[in-house]
Amino acid sequence: DVIREVEGLAEKERRLADRLGLQEVRIVKGDADADPLVKKALGHAAAEWLKKTLRPGDILAVTGGTTIATVADQIPRTPLGVEVLPARGGVGENMEFQANTIASRIAAQLGGTYRLLHAPDVLSDDALQSLIEDPQVQDTLQRLRSARIVLHGIGQAIPMAKRRRLPESRIEQIEAHGAIAEAFGYYFDAHGNIVHAMNTVGLRLSDLKHIERISAVAGGSSKADAISAVAFGSPLQVLITDEAAADAILQK
Ligand code: BG6
Repeated sequence: DVIREVEGLAEKERRLADRLGLQEVRIVKGDADADPLVKKALGHAAAEWLKKTLRPGDILAVTGGTTIATVADQIPRTPLGVEVLPARGGVGENMEFQANTIASRIAAQLGGTYRLLHAPDVLSDDALQSLIEDPQVQDTLQRLRSARIVLHGIGQAIPMAKRRRLPESRIEQIEAHGAIAEAFGYYFDAHGNIVHAMNTVGLRLSDLKHIERISAVAGGSSKADAISAVAFGSPLQVLITDEAAADAILQK
């Protein structure tokens, strides 16, 4: 921590927490956009945060994405006996970046159990309704709502919409509404207003207010505006980011 003070990271963490109204910020050096090792460092920092925060018997909900996948890579074997759940359905992305896969990998490292939510990313109203009525899905949703900790990624709205193969007309619509950020299926404008929510099973933004610790991991200067929007628009408490994103946010 002395090194962090000397490098000015601790000071930046305090300023960023203040700017975004967060309880805790952790900054790793570098720019995840330019260097894949920085994304690994983000995963490591998030794994450290999880290790100090998790208690035996906790329920942890995680999203998918390439950043949260690095948390699963970086978390050491620590027998904590927790339950890990995917925050949302989200089948549709590459297997290794799906929340289901990541939840099962983190559970394996933490000596815990997991459950899966097998639901496509894009669902019709009817399909969503029948999924929600399934007793097993209901049970998982119930457990998700009693999670104590959520760890999620943050993305840029349009790249995420494309990655999820949203119809072109829908992408144009959310763009026209000023969407710049995406987190667990919600699209936010620069002020943190929700401009689109995906029809999918999993945690809703309204469920988050009952959850004790909410943490996001996202870095790279390209995500700066998205991070700010999600910090304003959701009950985020803890941010693990990199110096490039932090500098870009603080420069505004
Ligand atoms: C998704 C999460 O899977 O990953 C989103 O549900 C997040 O919350 C996205 O925006 C970020 O992905 P990446 O690959 O940029 O870490």
